[in-house]
Amino acid sequence: MKIITVSYRLPLSIKTQNRKTTITQSAGGLATAILSYSEKSEADLTWVGVADFEENTWEKNKDSFPKTFDVEPVFLDKKLNKNFYNIFSNSVLWALFHYFPSFVEYNDEAFEAYVAANAIVAQKINEIYEPGDIVWIHDYHFLGLAKLVREYHPDAKIGFFLHIPFPNFEIFRILPNKAKRYILEGILGANLAGFHTWDNAIHFTECVEKILGLPQRSFLFSQDSHHTKVGSFPISIDFDKFYDAYNRDNVVALRDEINGLYQDKKIIFSVDRLDYTKGINNRLYAFERFLEKYPEWKEKVVFLLVIVPSREEIGKYGERKKIIELNVGRINGAMGNYKWTPVVYQYQAVDFDRLIALYTSAHVALISPVRDGMNLVAKEYVASRQDKRGVLILSSMAGAAKELQEAITINPFDTELTGDKIALALNMSEEEQERRMERMQKYLKKHDVFKWATHFLSETEAAHKQDTNAVPL
Ligand code: G6P
Repeated sequence: MKIITVSYRLPLSIKTQNRKTTITQSAGGLATAILSYSEKSEADLTWVGVADFEENTWEKNKDSFPKTFDVEPVFLDKKLNKNFYNIFSNSVLWALFHYFPSFVEYNDEAFEAYVAANAIVAQKINEIYEPGDIVWIHDYHFLGLAKLVREYHPDAKIGFFLHIPFPNFEIFRILPNKAKRYILEGILGANLAGFHTWDNAIHFTECVEKILGLPQRSFLFSQDSHHTKVGSFPISIDFDKFYDAYNRDNVVALRDEINGLYQDKKIIFSVDRLDYTKGINNRLYAFERFLEKYPEWKEKVVFLLVIVPSREEIGKYGERKKIIELNVGRINGAMGNYKWTPVVYQYQAVDFDRLIALYTSAHVALISPVRDGMNLVAKEYVASRQDKRGVLILSSMAGAAKELQEAITINPFDTELTGDKIALALNMSEEEQERRMERMQKYLKKHDVFKWATHFLSETEAAHKQDTNAVPL
């Protein structure tokens, strides 16, 4: 029995620059989480995803991929992929599901491409599926897939997990009727439909009840002999990997370098993919307000802002980048001087050791999404602090805020109060930092990504039994 895990993005990508080929890890919570799981799990895992490289590049480089899982890339036609990924997935679903209805750019051609891409991937799964396999479908790119796989294999064990929020009925209903039905019926093809929080699970069940007219019984939908269980499964991280990295030689050297550069200052840190959901401008406004209101911190604090490039072909992302860069320039121009740059900004990814060095030098992690399914950065920051120092400021709009109860929570739209919370965090005593870190670490150690994945998969099997038991022998 194998696990067929399906996501749009494969965990690794092959990039060729100046004739040099490198294999890089994909950005984002999904790839990070499932890759961590695959590294340590004993399971026989096959990863199906859409290739962002050419077929001949794959043939030349496939042996350099890790051996901990098999990879089955799907090669999509460029135009189809553009309509499927750039438009319907990222300019309709991503925007709507994160409560940005005014950013939605719906068109029928893009929806048809989404339907076609789901069908192509279903076909791929059909080629490799063997009875007994679990099909584990991830995220908003494949909302129609569970139903399609079930049409091929009525007995299949299928789990679907959504890595982003599921919106409430008033937002979801904005989609055209055919898209609404396709999505809800698609997800109901699974035995288990998982969300990061109960709020999201409730939104989904409400949409099914109101739009499909299907009643639920204790988060269970039944259609003839097929049942779909709905539940909350907050995703997590490889706690030990982050915790144990603190003393690695390279991490120590990089941390010493950072502390040396900013020895007379406190560091505020954040790292995100460039995305309008991450509230990057909100946090810049809050930092600016904090400096205005608490001028005693001028020249005594620095904000290290790391932005990882993402979805650069999509208009809204480019626009956001421009505003961020204008704000960074404006704040540095107005507040800084020849001795001090308040915001140190980089638009590049950082490798793992540098990330840990940054997490563990930061007095404050300022994480302010305006809407986020989970936010693994918040969990990573806490897990890395073997020294039990540092303060997490976290938006209450992130799923992670439900679990990380000792974070200082903010409403990212409340600039004034966020500024005050930055001051509070910078002044927090070491005893209080330690108390909060310890409690959050204890929670995360217990609820790591392995627990999450094994729990989700065993619940998929348990939910599947309800179908099998319902079929007369
Ligand atoms: C989020 C989504 C993932 C996605 C990632 C990176 O974490 O939930 O599905 O892969 O962002 O975005 P990208 O568009 O580059 O795959």
